[in-house]
Amino acid sequence: MLVTKDLTVRFGGHVAVNAVSCTFKPGTLTAIVGPNGAGKTTFFNLISGQIKATSGEVTLNGNNLAGLSPSARTRAGLGRAFQLTNLFPNLSVLENVRLAVQAARSGAHLRGLNLWSVWSDHKALTQLSEEVLEAVAMNDKQNTPVASLPHGDQRKLEVALLMALEPDVFMFDEPTAGMSADEAPVILDLIRKLKDDKRKTILLVEHKMDVVRELADRIIVLHNGTLVADGDPATVIASPVVQEAYLGVSPTPAQAEPAEGPRQAQGGRNGEDV
Ligand SMILES: Nc1ncnc2c1ncn2[C@@H]1O[C@H](COP(=O)(O)OP(=O)(O)O)[C@@H](O)[C@H]1O
Ligand SMILES: [Mg+2]
Repeated sequence: MLVTKDLTVRFGGHVAVNAVSCTFKPGTLTAIVGPNGAGKTTFFNLISGQIKATSGEVTLNGNNLAGLSPSARTRAGLGRAFQLTNLFPNLSVLENVRLAVQAARSGAHLRGLNLWSVWSDHKALTQLSEEVLEAVAMNDKQNTPVASLPHGDQRKLEVALLMALEPDVFMFDEPTAGMSADEAPVILDLIRKLKDDKRKTILLVEHKMDVVRELADRIIVLHNGTLVADGDPATVIASPVVQEAYLGVSPTPAQAEPAEGPRQAQGGRNGEDV
């Protein structure tokens, strides 16, 4: 179980995440929504350890993560999509996945698990890597250098690497952003499959409300760094705070334009998005 308690970070005078207390349970997918600049990515960065909290805490299965580096948090079971810029651009797709699988194996070892013992030889590692690539429909790109992948494939590879780590907690930050219409469903199918594993905790930042409505067991809404709504999707979407802040009061779909500045930066997104 992942718990944040009064999690707060200030950048100068700006409170980007403001005393967010939230519990995320295994077997649930929580969508995190809110306009651009609401603090969603910063909230993920605080959980994964990319940035240090000003105050508050994050615990995973009862262990306080304070002071743990991002990689130590990964070993503890927190899965955050890789930044491809941190990978090995001149190595092939398969080599990158294999490295992630190996890293996961040592991580699992450190966590006292034996799950990876069956994968102890190179052939098995390669086979597992191929399975991971198959899950994101990238088997045909095995030998392509990562640097020459198109954007959509890079995003899919990020998800493949996250899967290879087999974390307890999956954090997806706009996983289909910039993907074409035929690429996005691959990722959404994958998230659907992950949902079937009731041991996994999934956090998903997503703007497309149709996706949120379908996948989320729960929605939390961040606004100016503050948690302003938290509950089941139907209730949260219908709540006055969401209707007023993001959709305008009693909008028709065509009129549901962003009420505030930050959303207008998201050109091309329709009024259903938050
Ligand atoms: N490293 C940083 N230094 C200063 N300000 C930051 C930093 N990261 C994010 N912010 C600010 O924090 C706020 C929240 O940003 P972000 O978490 O990226 O929002 P979201 O992901 O919801 O669009 C924004 O005002 C952003 O400019
Ligand atoms: Mg963001």
